Amino acid sequence: MPSTLLDLLASYDDQAPLEHAFTIPASWYVDEAVAELERQSVFARSWQVVARADQLAQPGSFVTEELAGEPIVVVRGNDQQLRAFYNVCRHHAAAVVTEDAGTASIFRCPYHGWSYGLDGALKGAPEFEGVCGFERAQSGLVPVRVESWEQFVLATLDPSAAPLADFLGGLAARIAPLDIGTLHFVERRTYSLKCNWKVFVDNYLDGGYHVPHLHKGLNSVLDYRQYKIETEDRYCLQSSPMVASGEDAATAATRTGDRAWYFWQYPNFMLNLYRGYMDTNLVLPDGVDSCKVVFDFYFQDVSAAERNRESIAVGERVNDEDVAICEAVQRGLHSRAYGAGRLSVRREAGEHLFHRLLARDLKAGLGQAAWSS
Ligand code: FES
Ligand SMILES: [Fe+2]
Repeated sequence: MPSTLLDLLASYDDQAPLEHAFTIPASWYVDEAVAELERQSVFARSWQVVARADQLAQPGSFVTEELAGEPIVVVRGNDQQLRAFYNVCRHHAAAVVTEDAGTASIFRCPYHGWSYGLDGALKGAPEFEGVCGFERAQSGLVPVRVESWEQFVLATLDPSAAPLADFLGGLAARIAPLDIGTLHFVERRTYSLKCNWKVFVDNYLDGGYHVPHLHKGLNSVLDYRQYKIETEDRYCLQSSPMVASGEDAATAATRTGDRAWYFWQYPNFMLNLYRGYMDTNLVLPDGVDSCKVVFDFYFQDVSAAERNRESIAVGERVNDEDVAICEAVQRGLHSRAYGAGRLSVRREAGEHLFHRLLARDLKAGLGQAAWSS
């Protein structure tokens, strides 16, 4: 392991309490070796959202995705069981399933026609008689662990990962009373940002610090002084009482209820809730200097098309404001003028949690031996 990576990791003190803490160093946002280590030790080891349950409701329905750089397929079997596999043919490695989503009774590889059942078993291998020692029963698609929670389907590439419930920790119980199961998916929008994925997460986790400055419309419906930040396990909940305001009509009309709820689950999934409304954000690295953020919009009343459109537009405007600042931050992180920053004790506990969890995973990923040597 190159010592530079060890040095980079050593330059962040994950034991420092919030009052003494610095952010993770700028190098972690721009260094290719850190990005690769993240892929291996964060994205390939954690539970990652790979689909919505509504996409996999019917037997035979499937979704293909990339998980930590690996092609996977998630499918609902005829026995109703949810399964996931590496989408890699055991013959010569072609992608077996080539559509993004659909319904199938069997998966047939487009290259030489090998076919697999929805349970991954090899069903057919044309012209393969006489191949010595070929173990048909051992030549099915390689399984990936998959579980569901609320409307989400999550998978992990780590065979020894703790079950999803352990990974989610207190989050599941904290969200349960909010009844998100009553909300229905309406629309997906995907954004490409010219910033490291962690810049987007940091921005999300600054405890509303940027809201009065960057999101004037949103700020008008939140009671900023009462904005609360709670951290536990691998999640952060930011919540705020809502106030009636005539300042921004579209925001006031579409962001209602007693309280705004913003949940983040380490490392890259967010759920934002108002009355009758939820959007989820999945932040995916796309190289060291860019990321993709997938927004899924859910509503309680899917028949209120006009109002829902207005609501999505409000969400998009807030995101546009975030995108511009995140891209400016990424440019700044490349500057020789910047090394690391301090954290607001009042506001930035979520960011501190994120940085500590990340540092812990990266250090574990480098290996105990390498780290202690
Ligand atoms: S690679 Fe799939 S059948 Fe040959
Ligand atoms: Fe924001």
